[in-house]
Amino acid sequence: MHKSLKEDDTMSNNAYLSQGREVEIFKTAAENNLPVLIKGPTGCGKTRFVEHMAEQLHRPIHTVACHDDLTAADLVGRHLIGAEGTYWQDGPLTRAVREGGICYLDEVVEARKDTTVVLHPLSDHRRILPIERTGELIQAHPDFMLVISYNPGYQNLMKGLKPSTRQRFVALSFDYPAPDREVVILCQESGIDKQQAQQLVSLGGDLRRLKDHDLEEAASTRLLIYAARMINAGLPAREACTTCLAQPLTDEVETLAAIERLIQAYF
Ligand SMILES: Nc1ncnc2c1ncn2[C@@H]1O[C@H](COP(=O)(O)OP(=O)(O)OP(=O)(O)O)[C@@H](O)[C@H]1O
Ligand SMILES: [Mg+2]
Repeated sequence: MHKSLKEDDTMSNNAYLSQGREVEIFKTAAENNLPVLIKGPTGCGKTRFVEHMAEQLHRPIHTVACHDDLTAADLVGRHLIGAEGTYWQDGPLTRAVREGGICYLDEVVEARKDTTVVLHPLSDHRRILPIERTGELIQAHPDFMLVISYNPGYQNLMKGLKPSTRQRFVALSFDYPAPDREVVILCQESGIDKQQAQQLVSLGGDLRRLKDHDLEEAASTRLLIYAARMINAGLPAREACTTCLAQPLTDEVETLAAIERLIQAYF
């Protein structure tokens, strides 16, 4: 395995290189019982950051990938039928509220509207979770923290978060790491040498500049890491870039050709 370049992260899977003040801000929010909203493009480090913070704060994390069928019951819990009749099973949100921990709702704008009803009393000063089905009213554990994230790029107007929801959160805006940091991340996550990482990061920068013209979403840090891993495993660099940085980004023949030209300028 590769060696972590960050001194205080001893080979953890959640090694996270901070981009600015986000670690301090998140900690301060956690200590003050405030929920956090993280927005940013795909593959820029949102999930990695939340997992890292959970570790730093010694809190368990309950992650829910939201989708358009996700209902309040998926978060809160439901009655199930067992051998001895029906019983209640807590959902991930309820578990975090009872036992303490971070409940992380990823791509929260995808979730159905009824989920916001349960989030509101939890994300303001009340910190309570009313469970309609059982009549229970749970006061959140002191270590309970609600974290939500979404990608503003995918959002359509209908799905955007309501102001009454947004305004219950401390909000952090994420973007791809600065080039020097992205180089460190690539080395750390893939084991390639610094010079190759620099080439990939420069190529990534060029691809990101293409974004507004031809690409729906720019080349993410995640994809740069994929390319770096493939190169590190011995795949020729051009092939790694085509399969990790060209094909995943577009189907358009002309855009693919433009990306190929960029790749060939670097490798
Ligand atoms: N600051 C960072 N420190 C260390 N690794 C990072 C950092 N930012 C991104 N990464 C790497 O990039 C990968 C993608 O990041 P992550 O999965 O957190 O993205 P995301 O923003 O949650 O994307 P999505 O919106 O698609 O869920 C991670 O697995 C990690 O390897
Ligand atoms: Mg994520």
